[in-house]
Amino acid sequence: MRNYVIAGNWKMNKTPAETTALINEMKPLVAGAACDVVLCVPYVDIAAAIEAAKGSNIKIGAENVHFKANGAYTGEVSAEMLTACGVEYVVIGHSERRQYFGETDQTVNLRTLAALNAGLKAIVCVGETLEQRELGYTETLLKYQTKMVLTNVTAEQLKNVIIAYEPVWAIGTGVTATAEQADEGNGYVRAAVAEMFGAEAAENITVQYGGSMNPKNAEELLAKENVDGGLIGGASLKAEDFSIIVKAVK
Ligand code: PGA
Repeated sequence: MRNYVIAGNWKMNKTPAETTALINEMKPLVAGAACDVVLCVPYVDIAAAIEAAKGSNIKIGAENVHFKANGAYTGEVSAEMLTACGVEYVVIGHSERRQYFGETDQTVNLRTLAALNAGLKAIVCVGETLEQRELGYTETLLKYQTKMVLTNVTAEQLKNVIIAYEPVWAIGTGVTATAEQADEGNGYVRAAVAEMFGAEAAENITVQYGGSMNPKNAEELLAKENVDGGLIGGASLKAEDFSIIVKAVK
């Protein structure tokens, strides 16, 4: 049984006051959704988001987490701090973290383990660049990344992992992968999970697609066998657009 999850990734957008307003606007629009609905927001917006989402079907996530429990790591936030605030999900290894902040498969793996050990649900991102795709490395790379980020994750912990396949060339560019490309990429991720954890675990894991998913293309993408949800950037900043994507899950 696959669980469908539509998650917004707000990136570096919205103040606490704007967070309250946007979630209040979204709540009635996503009520009764046929999937889990998650909003991953900047750290400073978490308190406002949790307060605004109370009593609704919207769950709140963070956009990153550090791998150490505490200590001299200026600017970082631990998994325990997040759970103490009521956070349930966290995005890890987004390509913007990899591209601009030096994250590697190793640090993404460590952050994933820290999140899972604290009881958070981890939305772990993988994806190829345009250059890697054009060189024909998409399958190899997606399988490698998936295995790297899941190293030392237990079969039990895997139940709290969502993998988001996000082709780097499709993020924030308005260029969406075709439904076939999304299905194929998600299929490579699932195949890597099968090699590590077996066929049943691979069948059950939620694999999202992310990269310019919008109200127009969501239904076609989500209809694909291997696409079990979406990680939504730009379109998650608009209540109506986000709700149309949520409702595209039948
Ligand atoms: P986008 O972002 O929907 O704006 O392309 C997706 C993401 O970065 O998760």
